Amino acid sequence: MRTIGIDAVALAVPEHYLELADLAAARGVPASKYVDGIGCLRMAIAAPHEDAVALAANAAARVLARSGRSPSEIGLCVVGTETGVDHSKSIAAFLHGMLGLSPRCRIFETKQACFGGTAGLLAAAEWLRAGDDPDRVALVVASDTARYELGSPAEPTQGAGAVALLVSSAPRLVELEVGVSGAFAADVDDFWRPIHDKEGIVPDGHYANDCYLAALTGATRAWQDACRARGLGTRLDRTCYHVPYGKMARKAHRHRLAAEGIDAAAADAAFAREVAPSLWLPSLVGNTYAASLYFALASLLDRERAAVEGERVGLYSYGSGSAAELFAGRVVVGAGAFIAALEIATPLEERRRLTVADYEAIRRVDLEVDRAPYGSIQPPARAAARGVTYLGVQAGRRVYSNERAPVRAQRRA
Ligand code: HMG
Repeated sequence: MRTIGIDAVALAVPEHYLELADLAAARGVPASKYVDGIGCLRMAIAAPHEDAVALAANAAARVLARSGRSPSEIGLCVVGTETGVDHSKSIAAFLHGMLGLSPRCRIFETKQACFGGTAGLLAAAEWLRAGDDPDRVALVVASDTARYELGSPAEPTQGAGAVALLVSSAPRLVELEVGVSGAFAADVDDFWRPIHDKEGIVPDGHYANDCYLAALTGATRAWQDACRARGLGTRLDRTCYHVPYGKMARKAHRHRLAAEGIDAAAADAAFAREVAPSLWLPSLVGNTYAASLYFALASLLDRERAAVEGERVGLYSYGSGSAAELFAGRVVVGAGAFIAALEIATPLEERRRLTVADYEAIRRVDLEVDRAPYGSIQPPARAAARGVTYLGVQAGRRVYSNERAPVRAQRRA
């Protein structure tokens, strides 16, 4: 049987981050609440030129470059996001032009809160399984910006970033167990990003946590049934969870193992090996919504490289509203050397630290970027050198800087 899975991964992050200890000081909260209580060290702050399209394009360009794949190989491009820039045109359509994908490529965007990236990945795996061409390659990108009201309890759980995955037959990183998946859905109001207001609203963060855990129970039971139906075991060597903040993954691991009769102390001991390596990148970037689970997977692969080869990894995706799914894959034996070559964490090395005052200044202007006239957003020269940036709106279209295609000409006078 053909193996299908994740062939390569790359990240894009905003240029700036905020230390959560600095935010805690500004909000009059002990730093230990954010660092230990929430489980985050830094959060990525997207500037106006770093919208979900630009982040997605930069992650996608990087995954193609680092993996040695060409844009002409991509037959499907899906972008999972809940920070879309257009009710109609998908981010995948922007990527199609920016990357120079084939006119025969299928493109679309998926949305279901933080589940959108997983919806794209599962669709890509099933697209590969349904086709008879072993050379088909899918590009799946998850890209989001998490923003909450200044001073709200959710404020320290913001973040931004994108993950690009190549999905193929004969994958070099993770062979997915395609079709062995446990889904769970419920109509709940644990989170709201109103169409008329870009700021995310968590009506009750503790209720949202409960919804996440209830969905984990449902998805786990469904996944266990799917495994048994296929004669597969249900033991996982590692688990990556959706990471709205690091402590949530610890709560999730305790919750899942409790259902197997394992107490909190034993679950925490298992957590150090099974989950903690996946939380390194999320602790430096924050919640990246649809991309968050894949930041966790990238983190596990990068931190553990050789140790994780051959191991079975569970992937738990949760999107408020809500949709969840638990599925698994096995890290390819020999993947460690390729993971090193991908230089997964390099984009984080180039970041700059913001003061709280600078962060608040960005937040004052970024609500209006969707109607900012072309020319009013001035990315620093170093940002343009790093990749695609958003430049504002001109003649009814969003304009981006892009090395591959010149800035679009004006359509209407
Ligand atoms: P809060 O209510 O201010 O915090 O905000 P808290 O009082 O519950 O404290 C948090 C933790 O810090 C607690 O630990 C405290 O004990 C501890 P826990 O009981 O949870 O183990 N603590 C301290 N620790 C050390 N030193 C101290 C200290 N003080 C307190 N001095 C809350 C927390 C999560 C509610 C808030 O940040 C929030 O609303 N976040 C957003 C909601 C969220 O992300 N929920 C996750 C599940 S929903 C989800 O994942 C979907 C989502 O990604 C969206 C999507 O799908 O699109 C959000």
